[in-house]
Parts: sequence; C-alpha cells; structure tokens
Amino acid sequence: MKKPVVDQEVCEGHAICVGMVPEVFEMGDDGKSHVKDPEGAEEPDIQKAIDNCPVDAIEWE
Ligand code: F3S
Repeated sequence: MKKPVVDQEVCEGHAICVGMVPEVFEMGDDGKSHVKDPEGAEEPDIQKAIDNCPVDAIEWE
C-alpha cells in the first residue's frame, strides 16, 4: 500500500490535510503536518488532501 509523506521542508502548516483526513495527518508542535497513520484512510481520500495542499508538500512514498 502506498504511504503519504509530508516534506517538512515544504509544509507551511496550512492544515488542510489535517482537516480533510485527521486519521492520517496531525499537526505537530512544530506547526507542520506529520503522518500519524499512513493507512488510516482510503487512498482516494488521502489523494484529495494531497491535491488540496496549497504548497504540494505531500507525496506518495
Ligand atoms: Fe502542510 Fe499542506 Fe498540510 S502545508 S499542514 S501539508 S495542507
């Protein structure tokens, strides 16, 4: 199964990913998104979060 990865250099903390699939992403104390459960949601739902990140910080591994 594919796993999403947040590029910490690129993430600006817009938190759209966390709002869309909170089962997969969470905001860290550093103000950036982190993957807490890469298999916490269906791929199409994760893909929507990837597509909606304004800075394209999320990729599939
Ligand atoms: Fe970061 Fe994009 Fe999510 S900027 S917090 S990965 S919506």
